[in-house]
Amino acid sequence: MIFSNILQKKPGREVRKYFDEIASQWDSMSKEFYSEKVRESILSMIIPEPGHMIADLGAGTGFVTEGLKDGPASIIAIDKSGEMLKHMKAKFRDSTNIDYRTGDANHLPVKDNIIDYALANMYLHHVDNPPNAIREIYRILKSGGKVILTDLDAHNFEFLKKEHHDLWLGFSHDEMESWLRAAGFINVHVNPIEEYCCANSVKPDKHAKISIFLATGDKA
Ligand SMILES: C[S@@+](CC[C@H](N)C(=O)[O-])C[C@H]1O[C@@H](n2cnc3c(N)ncnc32)[C@H](O)[C@@H]1O
Repeated sequence: MIFSNILQKKPGREVRKYFDEIASQWDSMSKEFYSEKVRESILSMIIPEPGHMIADLGAGTGFVTEGLKDGPASIIAIDKSGEMLKHMKAKFRDSTNIDYRTGDANHLPVKDNIIDYALANMYLHHVDNPPNAIREIYRILKSGGKVILTDLDAHNFEFLKKEHHDLWLGFSHDEMESWLRAAGFINVHVNPIEEYCCANSVKPDKHAKISIFLATGDKA
């Protein structure tokens, strides 16, 4: 995979600036990109129980947490963008089971071995080092904990790098599987979910429709 120009500049700062700037619009933007079925696919893989700790990584304004906030588990919502989390906090102000933490994929602000489920939607294609982000997820999970990731299949819509600060043009199922296994995960599966991410370029003739995968793995 080739690193983009964005990566050669300061990817972390650029990505945070982008999401800080669009935080107030993210809920309406993301509705155009993908549907709630993506969240349902993630949540169908878990059974939250009292005492469980769930991490929503790259939580944004709470797309995944939305389906967990009235449940029995405690949620740690982590994002690089303080503005995204600020909007989420305002939306979910009546929920008392969410802990908001700003932090980066490479150094998650979470202790080792405490998380039951680590969930992330459309997170990995924005992080500078996806294999390292996966190793961090492994670190925070308890033994027996599960990671569930939804993200974009490999594609060639370059405009997403420039217009939406994507750092990666999706991922192949093989590379996702190998990164998860290399991090130590067992029972690794990467499958399509028959949902698509759709995005229009500022150029009228460019429109992306990208299939979405769901990747899971367990910490032994
Ligand atoms: C495409 S949005 C997805 C937000 C949310 N998961 C959703 O489904 O609506 C990607 C999110 O990941 C966050 N993010 C990007 N790079 C990150 C990093 N290196 N560490 C932590 N969060 C990051 C962004 O700030 C943004 O909120």
